Amino acid sequence: MSQTTRIVLAKRPQGDVTPDCFRVEQAPLPAVAEGQVLARSLYLSLDPYMRPRMTELRSYTPPFELDRPLTAGSVAEIVESRNPKFAAGDIVVGMLDWATHTLHDGRGLRKIDPAAAPLPAHLGILGMPGFTAWHGMLRIGQPKAGETVFVSAATGAVGQLAGQLAKLKGARVVGCAGDDAKCAWAVQELGYDACFNHRTETDYGAALDRLCPGGIDVDFENVGGDIFHAVFARMKDFGRMIMCGAISEYQDRTPRPGPEKMFTIVQRRLRIEGFIVSDHMASMGEFAREVGTLLKEGKIRNRETVVEGLERAPDAFIGLLKGKNFGKLIVKVA
Ligand SMILES: NC(=O)c1ccc[n+]([C@@H]2O[C@H](COP(=O)([O-])OP(=O)(O)OC[C@H]3O[C@@H](n4cnc5c(N)ncnc54)[C@H](OP(=O)(O)O)[C@@H]3O)[C@@H](O)[C@H]2O)c1
Repeated sequence: MSQTTRIVLAKRPQGDVTPDCFRVEQAPLPAVAEGQVLARSLYLSLDPYMRPRMTELRSYTPPFELDRPLTAGSVAEIVESRNPKFAAGDIVVGMLDWATHTLHDGRGLRKIDPAAAPLPAHLGILGMPGFTAWHGMLRIGQPKAGETVFVSAATGAVGQLAGQLAKLKGARVVGCAGDDAKCAWAVQELGYDACFNHRTETDYGAALDRLCPGGIDVDFENVGGDIFHAVFARMKDFGRMIMCGAISEYQDRTPRPGPEKMFTIVQRRLRIEGFIVSDHMASMGEFAREVGTLLKEGKIRNRETVVEGLERAPDAFIGLLKGKNFGKLIVKVA
């Protein structure tokens, strides 16, 4: 019998996530049974959706269980296999425990070519967050040349690709991010036309009036709260609001009120569409080919924050909810 180091949910957060919500423990791993594989995690993805899963409230994925390992999109090496679909040495992507090793039945694990791209990219720009940006921006937002697009959390895992895809369609793209260096990178490297710092800007409405003087055609909504309200009030006729996430609200103890004057939706003939990327897996191949080509051709850029060591995952996750990551947040496990 071998051992795994794993991180379990020790308690459910009330408000902000704190380090004592997690516990690092050693656990024995039983022998690999018929149909199973033993996966050794190489990289683990930390994502905002994990925060709602730490509570018991109904969401689109079941809550994490207390005293059980949290799970994450991961890149792993198969070290032992009794499943005919996998062999030792295969590199796979799939949902695994926050752990050094996971016993798995193989369902939902996908083999990848390790030479095709750096391994962390499969958790970021070529993985779930990239696919989210691609589906949301191109399938729902459908920006056109000359339109004005706004992206919140503009330099994050999703936002960085969402903004670049809108630029490639010829739109004028404005974003916001929580740091001057992030805003500078958005403009200088990603090609955003403008970006404001939402942590130092005191009047979001004034910032949007200054940077999007004619209003907003497409909003890629990652943050929610006051930023969303200010954008909503500035949407143009036939505007599209891509409701991807609302990270500023994930740690609220009580629900926030919605925007004032809901009749705006009718007056402006707005389309406000929420989506969950896992409902659209049939398009994953098309996304991977298209964005993989853009990346190889140097037409888009990609930034990651890679934290070394499984034990640092809890602190890194707490930091994600405060904007400490710059680009896609990944933990290097091995
Ligand atoms: N619908 C779907 O299927 C789907 C899939 C993936 C992700 N999402 C959503 O997409 C959004 C972005 O996810 P991501 O993976 O790309 O994460 P990310 O942007 O890489 O990381 C989260 C970022 O959100 C910003 N943030 C954190 N707390 C904030 C607050 N209180 N107010 C304003 N900004 C805050 C921070 O950036 P700044 O420093 O710039 O503030 C932080 O770096 C999230 O809302 C997530 O839930 C949805």
